[in-house]
Amino acid sequence: MKDIVENRRRISLAKKLEIAGIVVRENGLLWTALLGVYYAASTVSQRAFAAMDGLRKKKGIPGMNSRALNKAIWEAWDWNAAGEEWTPSEDWKASVIRCILEKHIPAGSRVLEIGPGGGRWTEHLVPRASDFLAVDISESCVDLCRKKFAAAPHARFIVGTGCDLAGVPDASVDALWSFDVFVHINREEVERYADEFRRVMRPGAVGVIHHGSVGGTLGGWRSNLTHEGMLDLLKQRGFSIVASFKEWQDSGTTHQAGLYQDVVTVFS
Ligand SMILES: C[S@@+](CC[C@H](N)C(=O)[O-])C[C@H]1O[C@@H](n2cnc3c(N)ncnc32)[C@H](O)[C@@H]1O
Repeated sequence: MKDIVENRRRISLAKKLEIAGIVVRENGLLWTALLGVYYAASTVSQRAFAAMDGLRKKKGIPGMNSRALNKAIWEAWDWNAAGEEWTPSEDWKASVIRCILEKHIPAGSRVLEIGPGGGRWTEHLVPRASDFLAVDISESCVDLCRKKFAAAPHARFIVGTGCDLAGVPDASVDALWSFDVFVHINREEVERYADEFRRVMRPGAVGVIHHGSVGGTLGGWRSNLTHEGMLDLLKQRGFSIVASFKEWQDSGTTHQAGLYQDVVTVFS
């Protein structure tokens, strides 16, 4: 847990000592000592994170988002929860399906999913699609999905390199879906994917991509890509932006796209 250290700096030392006295009186020495350890550790963790962020930018290193790391992490992942560990509530998931997936992915379309993982969205995309193909960098995800969706003859799963869509024919996709995947892919590889979107999406096709917005500065092992960066690279390739949002309203409830100011961008 990171603590916000910024405000503490504005309190004078004399006031801090007075506050510490009250804390000791009310909570005892052991609790106060643990509080001291917690504050020191949170300061160190925040500075370490800022230094890592600086180094990543200065040296152009990939952080936790290289293809090699994505492959290693997701092949080793325990997929028993099928990705539902990232679902904050049933209500949220139902709303994603109703307000994003069903709104933008036309029924009866040829769907391409990038990064199906344990099939959290795949199980809603497969019955909707006339033809379904998914590409994942992780062999274990592809094996798992092949077994899970074996009863759907129109659904295929292939292992990809993590930046291209080799094996996906030109202009063969009506609708593209990817959720909780591009948040972990750095800009350079997203650009290569976007070149591929142009090749595989037929004119008028729609894409729905969940991605980061703050270049990884808020944690969550997010990509170095920013919100503007994503919109720019799509527009540079001739796509138009249909919608791009961090939250949406559904029956009086505001839902967030993700924990780290993540965004859903719909493009055509
Ligand atoms: C956090 S999981 C999300 C899985 C699923 N989309 C969900 O929302 O439950 C990330 C998924 O993206 C895949 N992935 C990560 N980097 C990738 C890349 N460069 N290309 C394709 N798939 C990738 C992982 O193997 C994993 O299946």
